[in-house]
Amino acid sequence: MYTHSVNSEKRQDNLHELEKENVELKKSNEILSQSNKFLKQTQKLLLESEEKFRNIFNLSPEGIIIFDNNNQVLMHNDGVREIFGGEKINLKGRSWFEFCTEDSIKVIKKSKKELEKYGISKNVEVNLKIENHLIPVKLDIGIMTDNSGQPFGKMVIISKKSEDKQIEFIQRAYEQLLKEKVEGLERTDKLKDEFISMASHELKTPLFPIKFQSKTLLDETYGQINEEQKNSLEEIYGNCKKMESLISDLLDLQKINLGRLSLDFQEIELKKFMTDVYNENKIFFDDKGIEFSNGTSDSLNFKSDTNRLKQVFKNLILNSLDFVSNDSGKIQISASHNENEITFLVKDNGIGIKKEDIDKIFEKFYKANFSQNREFGGSGLGLAICQGIIDILGGKIWVESSVGIGTTVYFQIPFNITNQNRRLRRVRQNENSDY
Ligand SMILES: Nc1ncnc2c1ncn2[C@@H]1O[C@H](COP(=O)(O)OP(=O)(O)OP(=O)(O)O)[C@@H](O)[C@H]1O
Ligand SMILES: [Mg+2]
Repeated sequence: MYTHSVNSEKRQDNLHELEKENVELKKSNEILSQSNKFLKQTQKLLLESEEKFRNIFNLSPEGIIIFDNNNQVLMHNDGVREIFGGEKINLKGRSWFEFCTEDSIKVIKKSKKELEKYGISKNVEVNLKIENHLIPVKLDIGIMTDNSGQPFGKMVIISKKSEDKQIEFIQRAYEQLLKEKVEGLERTDKLKDEFISMASHELKTPLFPIKFQSKTLLDETYGQINEEQKNSLEEIYGNCKKMESLISDLLDLQKINLGRLSLDFQEIELKKFMTDVYNENKIFFDDKGIEFSNGTSDSLNFKSDTNRLKQVFKNLILNSLDFVSNDSGKIQISASHNENEITFLVKDNGIGIKKEDIDKIFEKFYKANFSQNREFGGSGLGLAICQGIIDILGGKIWVESSVGIGTTVYFQIPFNITNQNRRLRRVRQNENSDY
């Protein structure tokens, strides 16, 4: 009985031991399978980072060479092939110094101190060589170490020096050229302004007696003149008037450019003003079969510079006259207003203006339809002056035109006193400096 119970106890103990070992085994198995998972993940990460490194290495626009402690090339990227100028070039297994000139090897060796001190040496300027070709480059050299910190070789990043310098040089040369051009243009612009101003004043002085004397002779104040003399004098007088108007246009434009155009504001009644404009310009239609009309019905009292507004109208009417047909031409002037602005217009049924010219005709000296219809070519200043005047009056001017149908020039000015005042204050400030 006793033996039986001893044996049974022993078996129980053994069973217990076996169960314990089984639990331990299961635990170890679990740990092993976790470690396996972990290893697989680490391997995947390693592969991914190797892939990333390879991509950076291969896609880098710079040349990258890695060589061992004996200067033997372990690997290099395509950037190196590009720098050496050959797709098939392979440096692997060869000495890196094979591709450096004697002088360059000395320079590289000199950079050793810096390399040992900081682990990197930057901007080492050397000449690489391949098949007797010299390639000037800049090197950044770095020491490569293994996990235990032991150096196993070096990495060199190569950038083409000449290209950098060439681009820098071209950029600098271009900037310098641009600067000189701008300075030159500014000088020319200033000289041109001074010349126009001086020439206009100088021309004005002798022009007045020529014009006056030719008119006196034409009026036969000093006695009768024959037909030939009359024709010559009319030509002289006519050209004097043209020159006078050109000089006055140049001076006006100059004043507009310098912000010195003076304005003289008076009380104006719109309907009466438009009748005056019509009557003063009717004279240009006398000997032509061109219809001229005034379509204004609005009445309004406002303040503005009568003479400058009339100057704009005259310019626009003379333009229209130049581009309508002599027998079927029609030109109309008109004005209307809303609560803030007055809109004036000059409308013709002339040759019209091409779409691509419309934006340019307000530029000074721009002429769109050369010589067409025009007995004498204009100077291309009229619309620039009109725009300058309307701008000073705080308004705007624009054109609507269709080729073969006609042109309408609109200009709009505010009659709201506050709007005008703001502009006026600026103009008055400049008035004192008028010459
Ligand atoms: N009513 C119009 N019909 C057709 N073309 C026009 C008309 N008005 C202006 N133009 C075009 O616009 C150009 C510029 O006009 P602008 O009045 O500035 O100069 P211009 O009349 O040539 O010379 P200026 O007025 O100095 O004597 C004209 O040369 C002409 O080509
Ligand atoms: Mg004109």
